[in-house]
Amino acid sequence: MNKTSIVILAAGQSTRMKSELPKVLHHLAGKPMVQYAVESAAELTSEKPLLVVGYGADEVRRVVGDHVIYVEQREQLGTGHALLQASPLLEGRSETVAVCYADMPLLSTDTLRRLVELHAENKGPITMLTVEADDPMGFGRILRDEAGQVVGIVEEAVATEEQKAIRELNCGVYCFDGHWLWPHLTQLPLSPKGEYYLTDLVAMAAAEGQAVEALKINDVTEVLGINNRSHLAQAEAVMRQRINRKWMLEGVTLLDPSLIFIEATVEIGQDTVIYPNTYLQGATAIGRQCRLGPDTIVRDSTIGDGCTIEVSVVEGAVLEEDVDVGPFSHLRKGAHLAKGVHVGNFGEVKNSYLGPGTKMGHFSYLGDATVGKEVNIGAGTITCNYDGQRKHRTIIEDGAFIGSDTMLVAPVRVGAGAKIGAGSVVTHDIPPHSVAYGVPARVRDKEE
Ligand code: UD1
Ligand code: CA
Repeated sequence: MNKTSIVILAAGQSTRMKSELPKVLHHLAGKPMVQYAVESAAELTSEKPLLVVGYGADEVRRVVGDHVIYVEQREQLGTGHALLQASPLLEGRSETVAVCYADMPLLSTDTLRRLVELHAENKGPITMLTVEADDPMGFGRILRDEAGQVVGIVEEAVATEEQKAIRELNCGVYCFDGHWLWPHLTQLPLSPKGEYYLTDLVAMAAAEGQAVEALKINDVTEVLGINNRSHLAQAEAVMRQRINRKWMLEGVTLLDPSLIFIEATVEIGQDTVIYPNTYLQGATAIGRQCRLGPDTIVRDSTIGDGCTIEVSVVEGAVLEEDVDVGPFSHLRKGAHLAKGVHVGNFGEVKNSYLGPGTKMGHFSYLGDATVGKEVNIGAGTITCNYDGQRKHRTIIEDGAFIGSDTMLVAPVRVGAGAKIGAGSVVTHDIPPHSVAYGVPARVRDKEE
């Protein structure tokens, strides 16, 4: 017998999002919203949570992977019906069944834990989360009797004017007694909208004279339910504030947090300073004492300590320590800049390694190149890596000097310490320590 099993409901079509994408896959701070509930559940129990999927089930499976056990709800007949689909897996196997909705990503693990703890003390079959709020947000209203006991939940769609005025709301997070739950779930009445509402279990328990406990929270932001794009934007703002605050408390300076966008997947080292209009996205790790922005995007990249990136876009790149980039440069997938590399204005680097101390100051393109250490890439240098059909590599060895406006027609190699004169078109390999220039470039005895 399991102590607590967690079921996350995520099968709804969510017409209100007006989207081809299942609602729970819409992103919040860079992560699919369903991921937040899955991660909270993982923090709470070592057992995999059950995820009830239906609308867009295949897509949800692909995104969430094997962190959960899937339960299919073929027809979306309401939240009560959704939970019922889990009965073959849980009936007779769990003391407590905790249920939450996948469209409530801001709920903290701590709140969920407190609810489970309160339920352990509750002799009755249901413990639920409620919130007191000025804006009812379309939530179900909590009905209490004169003694203050919870006796039911009424959905907004069917509430009377008097009930609509109630400010205590149903958050959609519950703990149920495993023995009580399953037989009652099959007895849910059909709602006027043709659905089986999980919320009707509360009135059933009350009618039996059983205690329904409520954990009332004050922070409405935790239970923002995402039903449309406006809710999504609100939740994004709250999540962003949380993330920014966390990093500031960890020792990162954010010049104007309202203009800095850090996704939940990002790591940042101490004493890094971030200027406005900077976006840190995806699998990104930033080192210590970096200076990022303004007007910068860093996506899926690893940035070492002491780097500076100004007004630039960095994606799929690795920067070792003390690299500086920008303004107006673009590092693309597979760019690897070793310690002390300098990429100045209007540089583009793709699928290339630049060795320690190499400098590329002004409007150049390096694609599919391997560049050694202490190389000087003159202004306007281009690797001509594409012949119309295939990509070819350029190799520039240590200490080479590439003059301004050089075209390197790949595949080609420039030997260590070689010097290429300005305006050259290099079509053949250049031996180490030689001097070459012209169109096409030829090795000369001396510089003319
Ligand atoms: C629900 C509650 C409401 C509460 C609100 C809080 C019910 C009947 N109402 O309303 O009291 O205030 O949440 O956010 O429960 N789902 C399924 N299968 C279905 C229907 C829904 O898996 O057949 C899933 C959805 O994917 C979603 C969750 O259940 O994650 C809630 O469904 P939704 O339609 O958003 O319910 P609300 O109208 O928000
Ligand atoms: Ca909802």
